[in-house]
Amino acid sequence: MSATLINGTEMARSLRADVARAAAELRQRHGVTPGLAVLLVGDDPASQVYVRNKVKACEEAGLHSVLERLPADTTQDALLARIDALNRDPAIHGILVQLPLPPHLSSHLVIEAIAPEKDVDGFHISNAGLLMTGQPQVVPCTPYGIMKMLQALDVPLRGAEAVVVGASNIVGKPMAMLLLQAGATVTLCNSKTRDLGAQCRRADVLVVATGKPGLVRGDMIKPGAVVIDVGINRGADGKLHGDVDFASAVEVAGAITPVPGGVGPMTIAMLLVNTLEAAQRGLARA
Ligand code: GUN
Repeated sequence: MSATLINGTEMARSLRADVARAAAELRQRHGVTPGLAVLLVGDDPASQVYVRNKVKACEEAGLHSVLERLPADTTQDALLARIDALNRDPAIHGILVQLPLPPHLSSHLVIEAIAPEKDVDGFHISNAGLLMTGQPQVVPCTPYGIMKMLQALDVPLRGAEAVVVGASNIVGKPMAMLLLQAGATVTLCNSKTRDLGAQCRRADVLVVATGKPGLVRGDMIKPGAVVIDVGINRGADGKLHGDVDFASAVEVAGAITPVPGGVGPMTIAMLLVNTLEAAQRGLARA
């Protein structure tokens, strides 16, 4: 058996076109262009690629975007001052500080400094708390995009066994909350989980977000399961590889996201959605 490939590139294209249409309407009716500010501290090569892609996607959808590159030795106070200025800038509806930050900066303090209504990553403690208590406002882009994929594929979630591997604040924890709220029975695994294979084999829906290339192999997957691979790891061969060993997994899964071309494009599309929605909520508050 060979799994159906889940085409994230195609789904993301369609979502981005929807955002472009809605943004054009907002501009015509209200004179408002949704605006995103992306802050990159330092020169981590992977982060540089990610932020460039985010800004380019904004421009293509007709959103206003600003990329601010700050030197690696930027102080915490200087970064907080930039965020404060962007919080007060009416042309900016979304603020994204690319992670990871250099080690001398506290990502917690930096994220909490972003006004929750401009926190288009959904990482602020108030957005995390709203999601946890079933009142989502801004949902983190990667898990939000995965939910859109599962919905587009009509994957039944009520009563399903969902296993999430990786418990980060960016992906694993919010993913578990969204699946739980959709009625799945959720197991959230971490790096200390005993017999990861046994946990994964129970999953009707398996989401893997660990940053460990090839961690989940075909023999750890239930036949027919939907497998979502969040990993983006650059191999010694120069190519991108997921956290799932694709060659063995594709023989067992019912459907699987490829890397590249699966979750990655959806994450960017959802950032545009979150920026558009932040601008729309701003208008509703005005
Ligand atoms: N680093 C890796 N993924 C993300 C993300 O979704 N948002 C931000 N701000 N940084 C990241």
